[in-house]
Amino acid sequence: MASVSGGASVAADAPGDRYRISVCTDGAALDRALAADVSAGLTSLPKDLPPKWFYDDEGSRLFGEITRLAEYYPTRREHEILRRVAPDVAARSGAGTLVELGSGFSDKTRLLLDAMAGAGILRKFVPFDVNEAALRATASGAAAAYPALSVHGVVGEFGKDLRAVPRGGRRLVALLGGTIGNFTGPERRAFLAEIAGMSDAGETFLLGADLVKDRARLLAAYDDAAGVTAQFNRNVLHVINRRLDADFDPQRFTHVATYDEETQWVEMWLRADGPQVVHVRRLGLRVTFGDGEAMRTEVSAKFRPSQIAAELSEAGFAVMSQWLDDAGDFSLTLAERVDGAKP
Ligand code: SAH
Ligand code: TRP
Repeated sequence: MASVSGGASVAADAPGDRYRISVCTDGAALDRALAADVSAGLTSLPKDLPPKWFYDDEGSRLFGEITRLAEYYPTRREHEILRRVAPDVAARSGAGTLVELGSGFSDKTRLLLDAMAGAGILRKFVPFDVNEAALRATASGAAAAYPALSVHGVVGEFGKDLRAVPRGGRRLVALLGGTIGNFTGPERRAFLAEIAGMSDAGETFLLGADLVKDRARLLAAYDDAAGVTAQFNRNVLHVINRRLDADFDPQRFTHVATYDEETQWVEMWLRADGPQVVHVRRLGLRVTFGDGEAMRTEVSAKFRPSQIAAELSEAGFAVMSQWLDDAGDFSLTLAERVDGAKP
């Protein structure tokens, strides 16, 4: 793991300790991981790609646009809940360190940091994200906004790099934005177990999760009228073209969102308009798409509050509080790592 200090002006004031960025996943590691996902995903049926590849710099920018769309309610709802309960979260967690997984560019983080600062307990912020530019912007922005804050950003992937999150102090781990929904059932179980594994007894976990609701509203949130989500979805093809020297024609793929009431999954697909042959030159891979063939690029699971509590307890957390927004669209759950529990 390469460890680099600096990046914000405050770093010079207290070298090493006040500000650092650990890069667990650099460009070369990302290329290897993408190569593995693309060779497996484009040769399976149906074709399938994991969602983390949306988030290059353009993808992160487009996601920011999505969060401001009229149809995309989750960000606003979660913001509304946090505005109301952040002081409660700070008091009940008693944590001096905020670890934010998949931090992106979110301004919701500020609500938590402000509440912890208001309670007089804020010491450290550990943003964690696979997108290095987003991570650096968030880390340096926080260091500039809170002069006494110690910041240790980690550029890494869930499932591999969580052990680079520093231990010590009392930590609150936050996973916001409904990112938990972007895992399938078994992946989610493993990820929650991993978060439990990195937490000491008494430390807390704050989980934002989108709730089951009316199909039309769910579908609109993932298929907006202005077509921003469609652009975001197709961006994964640009990422593959650039990083693996492939020749996808993104304009010949249509964005499709579906909702399955049984699995409670919104799924995002890219559907081939006409038969196509794609070469992924760096992998020596030739892939054919039949006319109308759809490739799945994302799952966004929706939950019932009781299900979230049950999955957290299975992972080794005891729920302390659960909050919904006034419309009952989105949930925040605060849970405490319990001693001696699985895993
Ligand atoms: N927390 C923000 C952003 C959510 S979008 C919000 O609530 O608005 C999901 C974020 O998770 C993105 O910033 C993306 O880069 C990051 N991410 C997605 N998959 C990841 C992975 N496998 N490892 C680490 N970060 C990941
Ligand atoms: N975590 C977000 C969600 O599931 C990510 C997201 C929003 C997303 N819109 C998207 C991912 C569209 C892929 C496509 O709500």
